[in-house]
Amino acid sequence: MLTDLQQQPADALLALIKLHNDDPRADKIDLGVGVYRTGRDNTPVFGAIKAAEQILVDTQDSKAYLGPEGDMGFVKALMPYVFGKDSPDMGGRIEGMQTPGGTGSLRLALAMVKRAGYKRIIVGKPSWPNHNQICADLGLGVVEFSHAKADGTTDMDAVRGAIAAAEEGDAILLHGCCHNPTGIDYSHAEWDEIAGLLAESKILPVIDLAYQGLGQGMEEDAYGLRRVLAAVPEALICYSCDKNFGLYRDRVGALYAMVSDPADLAKVMSNGHSLARANWSQPPDHGGAAVRIVLEDEALTAQWLDELDKMRDRMREVRAKLAAAGQTGGVDLSPLGGQNGLFSIIPFTPEQVQAMRSKHGIYFAGSGRINVAGLTMGNIEQFLAAVADVTG
Ligand code: LMR
Repeated sequence: MLTDLQQQPADALLALIKLHNDDPRADKIDLGVGVYRTGRDNTPVFGAIKAAEQILVDTQDSKAYLGPEGDMGFVKALMPYVFGKDSPDMGGRIEGMQTPGGTGSLRLALAMVKRAGYKRIIVGKPSWPNHNQICADLGLGVVEFSHAKADGTTDMDAVRGAIAAAEEGDAILLHGCCHNPTGIDYSHAEWDEIAGLLAESKILPVIDLAYQGLGQGMEEDAYGLRRVLAAVPEALICYSCDKNFGLYRDRVGALYAMVSDPADLAKVMSNGHSLARANWSQPPDHGGAAVRIVLEDEALTAQWLDELDKMRDRMREVRAKLAAAGQTGGVDLSPLGGQNGLFSIIPFTPEQVQAMRSKHGIYFAGSGRINVAGLTMGNIEQFLAAVADVTG
């Protein structure tokens, strides 16, 4: 019976949206779910996307079904940005399909991993909570390794150990850039080493690239992904346009598969298609079509890249200001300056997280993860004072 179902907890990250909305204080601060905000504390639609949407409305002559793979013009237009302009499909070895956001892509990728007979997935800890949730739902075992050390640097010994200890039938999930939730990314030298270690192993890499362009730049943020792909025979790549095109609720993502023999690609992708059909049939069209229109138009592409540069610059400015505050109460904020993307973790205790909410109206994840884009030059001093107050 339906009444046999157990009550499920609300998703802790998404619940923060409501908690913040329900707080009547005018000076409350939302550092919760990963949404970019301008210095005026809003999340406008990208100008390039608005223009593309207008073109879409004016020119789209049908909304008939496209098939489980979605808008392949969108999927292919992204490829030079993800895989490089020289050989975007690596000689016919890469093919993709559209998915509902990065989560849809991860869901398909991990279901394909399961269907292909992989038993376990190696995941750095901490990771985006939905990674583990999807694995649990699919019945994939998760093997964890420590992603970062207390000093805010990557834990390379842990990743080396995890790869060395891997068994036949293991896959590994890596964050391509802007690690969620820590903001701590592998350096180029570390990616080089990881790519070499994976090449010597039988581990299947699944790379989640959800924040390309928000770290160091579109090309720079693809470094690790491209190094790994150049070294291994097969991989799955989960891509999200939610952040770098600001399309969050329109759910725009893609799944790409790389195989060693191009002759196997259609067979592999047919599994993505059949899994999509069983899950959502076909992805929502609007956002992907808008991205395609941007990428097909030189002026709109330039406008989009410029808007993305400004986002990144603003987040760097906030990070520099946080880092300059250094020791603040009981925590050292200086490592945040060298971290990437929307997120960083401040080592708050659970009680301090609660005090930040109840006493100061400042909302962020229970893990101590803050969304740095929620800070502006207008509220950052208030945030720093609150941090000093609860941790001092
Ligand atoms: C986040 O981690 O806040 C974002 O990826 C949004 C989400 O869906 O959790």
